[in-house]
Amino acid sequence: MSQVPLLSVHNLTAGYGRVDVLHEVSLDIQEGEIVALLGANGAGKTTLLRAISGLLAPKSGSVRLRGEEVGHLGAERLVERGIVHVPEHRQVFGTLTVRDNLLLGTYAFRRMSKRQRLERLEEVYTLFPLLKERQRQLGGTLSGGQQQMLAIGRAMMAKPAVLLLDEPSLGLSPLMVREVLELVRRLRDEWGTTVLLVEQNVRGALRIADRAYVLQTGRVVLHGRAEELAGDPSVQESYLGKHSSAAVR
Ligand SMILES: Nc1ncnc2c1ncn2[C@@H]1O[C@H](COP(=O)(O)OP(=O)(O)OP(=O)(O)O)[C@@H](O)[C@H]1O
Ligand SMILES: [Mg+2]
Repeated sequence: MSQVPLLSVHNLTAGYGRVDVLHEVSLDIQEGEIVALLGANGAGKTTLLRAISGLLAPKSGSVRLRGEEVGHLGAERLVERGIVHVPEHRQVFGTLTVRDNLLLGTYAFRRMSKRQRLERLEEVYTLFPLLKERQRQLGGTLSGGQQQMLAIGRAMMAKPAVLLLDEPSLGLSPLMVREVLELVRRLRDEWGTTVLLVEQNVRGALRIADRAYVLQTGRVVLHGRAEELAGDPSVQESYLGKHSSAAVR
């Protein structure tokens, strides 16, 4: 394939203070793909999402969006360019209504008119009818699964080209896990959103992903088609740790 990837990370090194957590990480994501990012606790998955979305400045290496270097831009400008990150633990604003939480998703678009924001809100409500029903409810009073939907809905208010999702199924019931993963697939199928998905639920992630990368202590140790990795028992045993291997069965 000679197509320019939508998102391309090349030899990225990043960390905290003097400690490097990521060591020359490279990955490519084509437009319209769902790519899973797997790895045991502490492997560097969240750090990689933070470096891609501009929350953490890379020490070296590059992040390119449609071939253009964006690694120096910082989070707010990257939202405008189309890279939007839904962090671990959701970070819904508990004392704001569902509707106001969603409208915050357009904060980076300074020139967007009120009318455009409200139109965007209606579009997002078509994806999340439940959020529309509960638009006047305070964010903090939603269930865990509903808060996860709200966090993803807020990200969709920016119409991202690339959505970075950090463990959206964390702490949810099996039924909600399935619903959230199904939603991720719809975001791709119906809105064409490209997704980089961090998950501890390896089986669920590989079911909806096209491809996957496995991180181990800050390095990519394996990547391939999702169905190949799903069918390879050594993947779980060697790279994903006990916790994840239990989730695969
Ligand atoms: N703000 C920080 N300051 C210093 N070290 C950090 C910071 N955040 C993470 N780390 C360290 O970086 C390493 C990678 O952490 P990271 O959160 O990226 O892992 P992860 O793969 O997302 O793990 P998990 O599956 O538990 O979420 C860990 O050793 C962690 O202790
Ligand atoms: Mg993490």
